[in-house]
Amino acid sequence: MKEREIVTNSAKETQEAAADFVRGVLADARAAEDGARLICLWGDLGSGKTTFTQGVAEALKVKGMVNSPTFLIMKKYPLLGEFKGMNLYHFDCYRIRSAEEIDDLGWREILADEHNLVVVEWPELIAEILPEKRIDIEFETVAEDARRIVFKDRE
Ligand SMILES: Nc1ncnc2c1ncn2[C@@H]1O[C@H](COP(=O)(O)OP(=O)(O)O)[C@@H](O)[C@H]1O
Ligand SMILES: [Mg+2]
Repeated sequence: MKEREIVTNSAKETQEAAADFVRGVLADARAAEDGARLICLWGDLGSGKTTFTQGVAEALKVKGMVNSPTFLIMKKYPLLGEFKGMNLYHFDCYRIRSAEEIDDLGWREILADEHNLVVVEWPELIAEILPEKRIDIEFETVAEDARRIVFKDRE
């Protein structure tokens, strides 16, 4: 497992780190061969998971605001420009009662499609349906504006 750790000192720095990270993920052709890229964001409330996802969306030229899809559980963003044909999926499992709710949204089909980049907040709530092949990112609040972010590529 590859592991890398950074500390950011503002929301903007977290978004920039997310943008760099996702460009690296998409440039990694090896990962595209079978199914979606899955990125799980682990960490407490306010640790920066949604902020990170906004940085991902910005790097991928998603139009409009990416907020926590709190009441939607899942949001799909078709990508344009150089990423045309791909989709960003943002799942927020915070309010679900069982992993079945995510399964019912087409989880397996979404993960089977190599055109998809899937970002999940609160993955612990769907632990039983998380595949081994994924990237885990852990967020920790270390000071008011400082976050430790640990990237763990399980491949
Ligand atoms: N270094 C940082 N990285 C990310 N967010 C930060 C940072 N410093 C302060 N913040 C603030 O912390 C909050 C993080 O919220 P959010 O991204 O919604 O967290 P989560 O989705 O993990 O609950 C935001 O209000 C953001 O502006
Ligand atoms: Mg959030």
